[in-house]
Amino acid sequence: MLHRSGRQPSNVFPTRRPAHHQLANGARPAKRRSYVAVYAASRTNSIKLFSPSKINLFLRVVRRREDGYHDLASLFHVIDLGDEMEFSTSPYATSDTLSCSDPTIPSDDSNLVIKALNLYRRKTLQTMYFNVQLNKRVPHGAGLGGGSGNAATTLYAANRLLGSPASNEDLLEWSGEIGSDISVFFSNGAAYCTGRGEVVEDVATPVPLDTPMLLVKPPVGLSTPKIFKSLDLARRSTADPRGLLAEIATAKGVDQAAAVNDLEQPAFDNLPELAALKQRLIDTGNFRSVFMTGSGSTIVCYGSDSVPAFLKEEQYKDLFISPARLITRKEGGWYTHSGLWAEQQ
Ligand code: C5P
Repeated sequence: MLHRSGRQPSNVFPTRRPAHHQLANGARPAKRRSYVAVYAASRTNSIKLFSPSKINLFLRVVRRREDGYHDLASLFHVIDLGDEMEFSTSPYATSDTLSCSDPTIPSDDSNLVIKALNLYRRKTLQTMYFNVQLNKRVPHGAGLGGGSGNAATTLYAANRLLGSPASNEDLLEWSGEIGSDISVFFSNGAAYCTGRGEVVEDVATPVPLDTPMLLVKPPVGLSTPKIFKSLDLARRSTADPRGLLAEIATAKGVDQAAAVNDLEQPAFDNLPELAALKQRLIDTGNFRSVFMTGSGSTIVCYGSDSVPAFLKEEQYKDLFISPARLITRKEGGWYTHSGLWAEQQ
């Protein structure tokens, strides 16, 4: 049956496979399997997407909740350090398959990509399974929300491949069930987030998108639950988060005084070298501000993407270093790389 638009919606699949012809002698025709294969292939659809990450331009922890989480007030921004993902529908498959360029990342249902597909099927009552190829560039334990970006990209891709039965608002709302940092990717790219991080208020990007930034991350990652647990509430900033938002918008950029992250204290207590690295980056005078993103361990150097000479010292040889830019997306579309710096291979 044709959809009223005259176009066959791509989320309509037959509930029963076509009956196979029987020959007069009761045998099946020799080409039976190839019919199914051709039919399945004709229903296979694929899409390649950029899977972005995020930074927090400021992050205030408002309170510790009874459920163990923390209420935040944070200006999140999507950035163009990202992974490559390719999705294809897998008609007649009975499970999803995920292959990842990084063999240390689990590809079972503990992975946020598989969790996102399970969530999508549960919410939409779709039955389709998918093959996913993930080429990782974003480090983990970094405070960059790389896994969350993969989950958001997965929800968007699955929905696109099945004819977009869910709205952006649906995807945003559902994503909060599998992680706190996923919802932000369903904003336009700049969002003031509260609650666990899943309450998203779209804001006009308060700073120029082409501001160069350099991301610097020591090889040691930090565990988000551990960092939240070792936060000493008495040592938090007292800055009003809406005030920080206004300050950044007025200054059209992030000055050091506005680059507040309440999670720096527990991260620096756990990893004193990170505090020293931040200080050395500030001391170069190269950057408008230097701050940690999320629960670390990435330090964002805002205002330049030139690599300071001291990072060539032996002690820093294993650092992850990458330029980055803030990015936004158009309504209904997905994020793409800014094209303002060459991606690492
Ligand atoms: O929600 P998500 O799985 O990303 O969070 C990982 C962990 O980080 C949580 O289990 C919790 O310990 C901590 N967390 C928190 N408050 C938040 C977000 C995360 O305490 N707002």
